[in-house]
Amino acid sequence: MDLSTRYLGFDLPHPLMPGASPMTGDLDMVRRIEDAGAAAICLPSLFEEKLSKEHLSILEHEESVANSVAEASTFFPSLTSYKLGPESYLERIRKIRAAVSVPVIASLNGATRPGWPEHAKLIQEAGASAIELNVFLVARLDDTAAKVEDRVVKIATDVRNAVTIPVAVKLTPCFSALGDLVRRIEEAGVNGVVLFNRVYQPDIDIENLEMVRRGPLSSAAELLLRVRWVSILSGRSKCSFAVSGGVQDVTDVIKSVMAGAHAVQTVSALMRHGPEYLKTMKDDLTRWLEEHEYDSLKQMQGSMDLSRSPNPSALLRASYVSLVEG
Ligand SMILES: Cc1cc2nc3c(=O)[nH]c(=O)nc-3n(C[C@H](O)[C@H](O)[C@H](O)COP(=O)(O)O)c2cc1C
Repeated sequence: MDLSTRYLGFDLPHPLMPGASPMTGDLDMVRRIEDAGAAAICLPSLFEEKLSKEHLSILEHEESVANSVAEASTFFPSLTSYKLGPESYLERIRKIRAAVSVPVIASLNGATRPGWPEHAKLIQEAGASAIELNVFLVARLDDTAAKVEDRVVKIATDVRNAVTIPVAVKLTPCFSALGDLVRRIEEAGVNGVVLFNRVYQPDIDIENLEMVRRGPLSSAAELLLRVRWVSILSGRSKCSFAVSGGVQDVTDVIKSVMAGAHAVQTVSALMRHGPEYLKTMKDDLTRWLEEHEYDSLKQMQGSMDLSRSPNPSALLRASYVSLVEG
């Protein structure tokens, strides 16, 4: 079965790849993920504020998750490799690039502008095949939507102009005019959009009056928001689209591709079941397409995208009204 797809200008044998996480910061793990057949490798992020107190506390939380998710204990790499400073991060790119033959997508994660283009250049020089920008902005209460969106576009533009390799932007769903933002990112020359960054939401322990963090692994419930937005945006944009968030099995992969995704990233499923699960999903995808008499993945790709509708906003509004009325 021809599962080929094109993402960020790369002709890939299929759309499945591990998303950014500590799993891909570890060389042995990366080899196992490549052996499982990953089409590309997304590296963990180099964080802008890598040594800030806030960031270290997030990492400590992730370390405790690694220890608490029983199935993950055997393949969740030590997070020391995750807490890399810029130099070690570049060295890691060189090593991983030399070890695997698939595209290696490095990740820059930050909220403010200075330093991004310079780090992007260094990442390119270290051999990364592409860069994913995780623009995780936490808006101040007096920020306007326009100001926040301008900041994202500026960061994307600066990085795009600094390097020649493909650039993708990984967004959160928390924008009031996502369509316009993606259009502006596309105009800046960005090659791809990753939907979405997960917004980790602390819970409240009502007995102890404490904020508590829930584990970072996702469930399939998170997928539908991604599927909805990919189906709205993909057919109308020159960017390629990756779904990230909630992909647990082959059904989720199929939904993402039908909505118009060119790549499907998964982290939680690989952390739960191990890197070899990527091969299971790929085999299941082949089987499903054969059973449903598709000739190729491309034949299915975008078959449910909303650009086929003359007025997607009206369609979504009508669906919403009929749902709440019905
Ligand atoms: C432990 C852990 C670490 C992560 N680290 C990063 C990171 O460094 N950079 C990034 O862009 N996303 C990071 N993510 C987010 C994932 O790339 C992905 O977007 C998210 O987990 C949703 O995908 P999933 O539902 O397949 O897990 C991380 C997720 C987890 C669970």
